[in-house]
Amino acid sequence: MKRQQIKVDYCVLEADELKAKEVELVGAAKAALSGSHAYYSGYRVGAAVRLRSGRIVKGSNQENASSPCGICAERTALFYAQAEYPGEPIEAIAVATAEDGEPVSPCGLCRQALVETEERQGAAIKLFLVGRSSVYVIGSAASLLPLGFGKKNLGQR
Ligand code: THU
Repeated sequence: MKRQQIKVDYCVLEADELKAKEVELVGAAKAALSGSHAYYSGYRVGAAVRLRSGRIVKGSNQENASSPCGICAERTALFYAQAEYPGEPIEAIAVATAEDGEPVSPCGLCRQALVETEERQGAAIKLFLVGRSSVYVIGSAASLLPLGFGKKNLGQR
């Protein structure tokens, strides 16, 4: 037997340690909260992605009485950016919640979607997970989805 480990490397930053364009992205994620439709959970989430051009695209969670119809803030922003600006690489995503606590962390579905985008564009997406008093900064979505499933598993299809 061989025991192996996978470690996740991330930085914990205070708000005043963010660079100007990071402050802008985090601000956009917070602003996106106003578009959230969280009628069922009451848990509002905002996200903002920054494209290579510098353009920022916002998204928020959109819930539905038929819960699987709903979608998280991260995928709203990610899919909107890809639909509106196809082929333009996504450099970073910030995620914020209206809750006043620990940074929000993307769910498994969002991790899967983010990793596939990283694979398609051949470049990592930096994550900024915004909490009340700190921001977690993670170099790539892939680092949050160890041993993930992807197109490699489907061979040439
Ligand atoms: N949600 C997000 O939008 N992003 C996350 O990272 C975690 C969860 C949403 C989905 C649902 O609308 C609500 O939060 C409660 O799960």
